[in-house]
Formats: sequence, structure tokens, C-alpha cells
Amino acid sequence: MQAPIILTGDRPTGKLHIGHYVGSLRQRVEAQHHYRQFVMIADLQALTDNGHDPARVSGNVLEVMADYLAAGLDPAKTTFCLQSALPALPELTSYYLNLVSVARLERNPTVKAEIQQKGFERSLPAGFLVYPVSQAADITAFRATHVPVGEDQLPMLEQANEIVRRFNALVGREVLTECQPILSDTGRLPGIDGKAKMSKSLGNTIELGMSEEAIRQAVFAMYTDPNHLRVSDPGQVEGNTVFAYLDAFHPDKALVAEMKAHYRRGGLGDMRCKQLLNDCLQSLLAPMRARRQQALADRGELLRLLRQGTEQARIITAAVLAEVKDAMGLNCFP
Ligand code: TRP
Repeated sequence: MQAPIILTGDRPTGKLHIGHYVGSLRQRVEAQHHYRQFVMIADLQALTDNGHDPARVSGNVLEVMADYLAAGLDPAKTTFCLQSALPALPELTSYYLNLVSVARLERNPTVKAEIQQKGFERSLPAGFLVYPVSQAADITAFRATHVPVGEDQLPMLEQANEIVRRFNALVGREVLTECQPILSDTGRLPGIDGKAKMSKSLGNTIELGMSEEAIRQAVFAMYTDPNHLRVSDPGQVEGNTVFAYLDAFHPDKALVAEMKAHYRRGGLGDMRCKQLLNDCLQSLLAPMRARRQQALADRGELLRLLRQGTEQARIITAAVLAEVKDAMGLNCFP
């Protein structure tokens, strides 16, 4: 059996936040000790909904690199790469586009939801509709077997595997490799306002590099149970953001369970719960903030790390592209 290869990526449209951390960064930090791992800064993909603002994308590449190091990804164990510097990816995308129908792309539930959320109904960029195909190129170009992602990315992996099967059937042999997800054991983290998703564009995030004071403010402004008016009132834990975060981050599960019971009975105030969460997030994020600052103090070194990984990735992805072309007989000039 082939040794596992992990690939993940992030769109560089802003700084990474604790939703990214529980959804995927945490798994990557663990995985890097056991597996070959590539982490891609997906700037091409980020342009599919930021075509009007390329500076937003290019301006966040090193911010995301700094976030990776802050979260604990180690350049000696994880290979970082930049999507736009890997020409094999758009080439593979062009070939795969012929194996996918527009109707199939329009049925992708994540793309569908994003189109609605971004108000693209009447002005959908063509690149956005086909970004799952470009993501299939990312995944297959590294022969990734495992992809640590949030749940919203499952349709992308399904679509990638469909392309793999179709291509392999077409050429009559196993040229491309299917992948499987590595899902987080924590569900999706809500925003601090209680909305279903933590997202930069909703302004409800806690970023990995946030100052101590900004974290405190975010925690104390957090959405709880709107009907829990007096400390003595029984409170609701379901849908209560503070408890969702305590579940995701607090190491002492027994303590959290006991607090939930107390909150439900009444007699436990929001302030005490928020204080506990604040302490827990401060101790998680303080070392990340320090590593982030240190990383950004030497942008030349950050760029060097990214370039070094990208060179390796260029060789690997070019080899897969060559095999794909060869399998299709596109090898007039070998
Ligand atoms: N679509 C992913 C996201 O928005 C980013 C991404 C791009 C990715 N290419 C990838 C994730 C390849 C996993 C594998 O978060």
C-alpha cells in the first residue's frame, strides 16, 4: 500500500482564526509528526471570489505563513507551497474540466451555498464555479491520500474522487489516486456572535494573533443564552457559544460537564463561564501570538521557507502532470 500523503490548503484572504485551528490546523500539527504533509497557500483559489482585489490575496500570503508557524507547523516536517507558483495545477485543471459537467458543478452543495452567501446569483465568476476542479488538481497533483478539512469541504473531496475514477477509467489504469478526508473531532465552531460560522467577512472571529485585550473583549462580548437574565435562572447550554468554545478548547472535560450541569440548574453566571473561557484561550493563544510576531519580524525568512517548499512541490506536481499527459497520449514531444 502507498504511504499516506497529506495535503491541505487555505485561501489567503485574511488572517487565520481559532475556527481554522480546531477545524484543521490542530490536526495538521499532529499529522506532521507521522506523515508526509504538504500545506498549500491557495492564492489561485482565493482569486476565484476576489478577482477584483488581487492585492487582498497577495497581501495575505505571508500572514498565513506566519499563522502556520504560529499554530505549530514545523517547516522541517511540513512542506509549505504557493499554489500560483505551481504551473502543473492549472494545466491539470484544464484537462479535468473536460471530465465534469456544468450541471454537476452547479449541484456541489458547498459551491451552491457560497454562491448564495456571496450574492453571486447574477454575476458568478466562471472561475468560482469550477474551483472544485482546481482543487481536484491540487489533491491529485500531490497524490494526496488524506486531506484534513472541515465538513464543508467534503463535497470537494467527493468531486475530486469522481474525477480520479473517471480519469482512471478513461485511460484504463490507476494513474491518479483517490483521497479520503480527515475530519476534526470538534464540530464547526460558531462565530462569537453565535452565527453558525466563524468567518472573516462576518467579523465574528478570534484570530490566532489577536492581542490579549482583543481576545478578552471578544470573549466577554460573546453570545450566550439571551433568556438567562439572572444568575439564578436556569440557562441553556445548546446554542450557547461560550459552551461550544469550552467544548472545543478546554482540556478539562469533566469540569466543563460539571459547569454545564450547574448552568442548566441555575446559579452559574455568564461572567464566570466567560472568565474560564478567557483563561483557556489566553493560554492557548499567547505562545501563538509570540511565534507569529517572531515570524513576521523576518519576512525574508518566511518567503525563503515558502519558496523552498514550493520548489519541492513543483517537481512532484510536474511529474504527476507528465503521467497524466502520457496516459492521454499527449506526449508527441517526450
Ligand atoms: N478550499 C479550501 C478552503 O477553502 C482550500 C484548499 C485549496 C484546499 N486547495 C486545497 C484544501 C486542497 C484541501 C486540499 O479551505
